[in-house]
Amino acid sequence: MNNIAILGSGSGSNALKIMEYFQKSKVADVVCVISNKASAGVLEHAKNMNVSSKVFPNDVWQSNPREVIDFLDTCGAEVIVLAGFLRKIPTEILKRYPNAVINIHPSLLPKYGGKGMYGDRVHRAVIENGDSESGITIHLVNEIYDDGEILFQAKTNVHTTDKPADVQRKVQQLEHRHFAPAIESFVLNRLNK
Ligand code: GAR
Repeated sequence: MNNIAILGSGSGSNALKIMEYFQKSKVADVVCVISNKASAGVLEHAKNMNVSSKVFPNDVWQSNPREVIDFLDTCGAEVIVLAGFLRKIPTEILKRYPNAVINIHPSLLPKYGGKGMYGDRVHRAVIENGDSESGITIHLVNEIYDDGEILFQAKTNVHTTDKPADVQRKVQQLEHRHFAPAIESFVLNRLNK
């Protein structure tokens, strides 16, 4: 289990860190990047890193997930990493990759998870609730949003004067530091089973 596919909908800063990390790691390779948005920055990062990429628009994920699976199979993907991928993963894909789909969420789950909780909304909720800490959660994906087994968490302080952008910056630093090594540990654990 050492071929990684990255799915992303946005700027792709985490995807870039992961591609850079695994260019140097002997444990796994990033074999493809998939997005649901043709304008997503993650596709540009894939191009620059010489990683093959493909766009499957939103309707395909719903009506014909087999198309996505066929592409993943062609790439030889064994682990699916969601790096800012904001669509629900169809059951067919979860069944094809049991316990091998990983997501990162910008809060300390189970707090601030669920449908519609992403990006800025999460950080605003943390501040509105007066929390003194936030962080990241890396977890397995199941059929329910942000509900699968937690693999890794890291925390950061939230100050009373923090704005959502401050929390976002601190959380993003944690993501960039920990996501790729956490994926590597996951792959190593799986290999040893
Ligand atoms: C990340 O902060 C990630 O935690 C979040 O999207 C961002 C993507 O940033 N994911 C979610 O909110 C999932 N519910 P990036 O495109 O720069 O990597």
